Amino acid sequence: MKSIYNKIVELRIQLRYHNYMYYTLDSPVISDDIYDQLCIDLIKLEKEYGKKNSFNKSKKILKQIGGKKLHIFSECIHKSPMLSLKSTNNISDIKFFEQRIKNYINNVDSIQYYCDLKIDGLAVNLLYKNGLLVSASTRGDGYIGEDITRNVYMISSIPKKLVGNNIPEVIEIRGEVFIKKSDFLILNQLSVLKNKKIFSNPRNAAAGSLRQLNPNITKQRKLMFFVYGCGTFISDKKIYSHNERLIQIQQWGFSIHRDYLLCSNIKDIIEFYNKIYDNRMKLDFEIDGIVVKIDSIVLQKKLGYVEKYPRWAIAFKFFSLDIETRIKDISFQIGRTGIITPVAHFIPVNISGVTISKASLHNISMIKKLNIYINDYITVYRAGDVIPKIRNVLVNKRDKLAQQVILPLYCSSCHSKLLYSSNFIFLYCPSSFLCPAQNLQRLVYFASKFGIHIKGLGKKNIIKLINHGYLCTPVDFFTLTAEKLQTIPGIGKKLSYTIIDNISYSKDVRLDKFICSLGIIDVGISISKILANYYKSITNFINTNYSVLSEIKGIGVNISYSIIKFIKNKNNIYIVFRLIEMLNIFFISK
Ligand code: IVH
Repeated sequence: MKSIYNKIVELRIQLRYHNYMYYTLDSPVISDDIYDQLCIDLIKLEKEYGKKNSFNKSKKILKQIGGKKLHIFSECIHKSPMLSLKSTNNISDIKFFEQRIKNYINNVDSIQYYCDLKIDGLAVNLLYKNGLLVSASTRGDGYIGEDITRNVYMISSIPKKLVGNNIPEVIEIRGEVFIKKSDFLILNQLSVLKNKKIFSNPRNAAAGSLRQLNPNITKQRKLMFFVYGCGTFISDKKIYSHNERLIQIQQWGFSIHRDYLLCSNIKDIIEFYNKIYDNRMKLDFEIDGIVVKIDSIVLQKKLGYVEKYPRWAIAFKFFSLDIETRIKDISFQIGRTGIITPVAHFIPVNISGVTISKASLHNISMIKKLNIYINDYITVYRAGDVIPKIRNVLVNKRDKLAQQVILPLYCSSCHSKLLYSSNFIFLYCPSSFLCPAQNLQRLVYFASKFGIHIKGLGKKNIIKLINHGYLCTPVDFFTLTAEKLQTIPGIGKKLSYTIIDNISYSKDVRLDKFICSLGIIDVGISISKILANYYKSITNFINTNYSVLSEIKGIGVNISYSIIKFIKNKNNIYIVFRLIEMLNIFFISK
């Protein structure tokens, strides 16, 4: 058992690291919820320890914690939402993008596309009223950002007052704040000399410089700004195209990068993409692709958006650089549905400022497909600039240290014999709720927003509840009491009652959500919707058979097979029956 003091020291180290990732590098590695829980744990432990010992509290760390919880900057609601962009790095998706647009809007002979650089910086929204900059904010969640007006005032390429004619009553200017590569290098060199923390890439440097409590620091960092569009625009002057709009915005005093092109077909778009790709190293700022937008504002409006993505624009991104490294080991992780996922661990490499050391291989058939051995040399990349992936195994470099990968025979958690899926693509543990590793993930998923959504019960508390013997199957969520919850460290009286209330709310659950919460292999959100629409009640669903399932549009052989496997398992069906008794599972046709 760790002493309280050791736990405090460990937590302080963890929080210092997360503060650094969040405040200095602007690249948090944990969610706000987990961060907040760490703070609560630290405060509690310090209180407990402080009662018996004289000791220094982590004032400095906690001050930052306070800053984060209270938000360093106040909130700012955007007049129009700041949407995101769907992105791709293959030509067929760009062709599909064009085809979809053509299908959507009939009777348009030719479509003009405005193509420009996708700058790798930070999206900023600038609100001007009658020509005066009144507020500036970060993108945030697309609807509410952080108010960074004081800092933006320090960026010389952002006009505080618009100049020229046709000044609109209201306009939200949207663009990217970034730092030049050359300025980034100087900034880091100075930081080394002053023994200060260095930034891992220009984007983080720009973010860190913009989100400064002291605007004078923002002033010293040479931040730049390019406009790429606008949000709300209230003006007497009618403008009909994106290009015209940007020309007008430029005349009001903004900078727009000169590398843009109006294209009328895919061939021109690809040519522009290739030209920019070949010349990107000559630019003194980072870009990660091009953006293709419909030029006509009427068409943009007609196309609108789905979820948070406009139908009228797409990011055509560059492949990230491939880097060579060497496999150290392959481990096998067990997931919620029992599927075993091989994970390749390699010598850490840095790709565009981020250190990566492992990549998921998705399923065991990938090991064969990639012909991968332990100690092999490989090339890795970050798909969509985020997810680490193995591109190639450098078989020619294989040496005598190479070892064949031995697949596990038994589950490392419950020791059940592992089985192969019918198509031999994946290996899985059949013990479902009886396998501790799988059960934990299933319980977390069951309570998550993809399942029945019990607010306040995340992974951390679920682990504690399992360890206290209160939680074994999803049924046990509904036998929890406030008293039981209060015996869990970190759950006080108030929170215990809130969780119990939340559990009661989640008893009313939509059929598709309930089906999804069961964690049947291959049955995610959209398949659950299809099943709910077909069966309309949970009893119909669990009494189904293979021939009925195979009639349903969208339900293939593998899905049918995995549903039958699930409902043929007595233990699973016992749990489902108990849940049916305890919950109100209802169906809404969609
Ligand atoms: S247009 C509806 N154009 O990329 C969204 N975005 O991944 C219209 N970005 O949040 C955005 N350069 O911050 C557009 N030339 C450009 C851009 C650009 C960078 C950023 C922008 C956006 C993100 C989406």
